[in-house]
Amino acid sequence: ASPVVRDGLGRALTDLRLSVTDRCNFRCTYCMPKELFGASHAFLPKSEILSFEELTRIARVFVGLGVEKIRLTGGEPLLRRELDVLIANLASIPGLQDLTLTTNGSALVSLAPALRAAGLSRLTVSVDALDDVVFRAMNDVDFPVDRVLAGIDAALEAGFGPIKINTVVKRGVNEQEILPLVRRFRGPQYVLRFIEYMDVGNSNGWRMEHVVPAREILERIEREFPLETLPAHAPSEVARRYRHLDGGGEIGVIASVTAPFCRGCTRARVSSDGKLYTCLFNGHGHDLRSLLRDGATDLELADFVRGVWRVRDDRYSELRAHLPPQTAKAEMSHLGG
Ligand code: GTP
Ligand code: 5AD
Ligand code: SF4
Ligand code: SF4
Repeated sequence: ASPVVRDGLGRALTDLRLSVTDRCNFRCTYCMPKELFGASHAFLPKSEILSFEELTRIARVFVGLGVEKIRLTGGEPLLRRELDVLIANLASIPGLQDLTLTTNGSALVSLAPALRAAGLSRLTVSVDALDDVVFRAMNDVDFPVDRVLAGIDAALEAGFGPIKINTVVKRGVNEQEILPLVRRFRGPQYVLRFIEYMDVGNSNGWRMEHVVPAREILERIEREFPLETLPAHAPSEVARRYRHLDGGGEIGVIASVTAPFCRGCTRARVSSDGKLYTCLFNGHGHDLRSLLRDGATDLELADFVRGVWRVRDDRYSELRAHLPPQTAKAEMSHLGG
């Protein structure tokens, strides 16, 4: 086995988030606001997007460097055609222990069985509200919540589970949805996680007042459902875990703003055009695609990644309060969250 690659703060490279497309059929106001991602927005042309062969090769190189878990992201990853073919390729990489995907759930009704059959181990679905009016307003393309809920059912039916449900909480927009979501996603099939709204990218107009702190989210839940804390699965886990005292299963909060978790950040991100990012908030991507297309060997690719990771010292969320506003961050839809 190859030696673990550690960065400047001693963090190993064990997770890869691989974006397979910059496109999405939603326009969530906190991620792809219509004013910036409207009809005139230029998405990447096909020639600039990594092919399945290129994605698989990159994945292999990262696994060779010690990556154990790969998460496919987008944009919306299920918009990438024949994604199940890529999943099957990735699932067969020796040494990869966990292959998962974060989706908005809009296409799961038809795709869930193929994803499962291809070897996807887990699934995370974003659901920001149960109230249809609120849900449609947040995705801003009038997509009905029922369709996503049916997709989640289809995924359970296909054999996925427990399924993680992600809810980004935005002050004044969906905080009233917290309890209904907890009631709906109790039980062993789900792990519901509330995410503090983050200042990713440059386009969502983020302000601290929009954040509902994790502590407040938990207080609201505990008024109806008493909770106890659960230990983290791994030091790199982003969510703090809780269990319903009455046996109603697990929930989590991802407090990236009020309780940053950079110390355990073992995650590399590769955008759909093949740029390697060492932090969600670090706008500088390292060009893997050029290396690939210029004929680099796997060894050369691995050396490049190792070199980038070794000097990494990102901990934006810990420093946020002390930094001047950053101007050149990459967008969430480019980095896949
Ligand atoms: P699991 O391993 O299944 O727990 O996945 P995950 O929580 O790492 O992935 P997911 O895509 O569900 O991410 C949940 C939320 O946490 C999203 O809003 C991500 O953007 C956020 N997140 C994930 N990794 C990081 C990170 O390294 N830094 C910050 N600030 N946020 C992150
Ligand atoms: N803050 C927090 N989470 C976000 N996501 C997208 N944009 C933001 C943001 N500004 C979430 C999505 C998805 C995950 C990959 O990232 O809802 O669950
Ligand atoms: Fe699309 Fe996900 Fe961004 Fe919403 S949060 S616009 S579903 S990529
Ligand atoms: Fe990792 Fe950057 Fe998120 Fe900190 S802010 S956890 S370094 S991605």
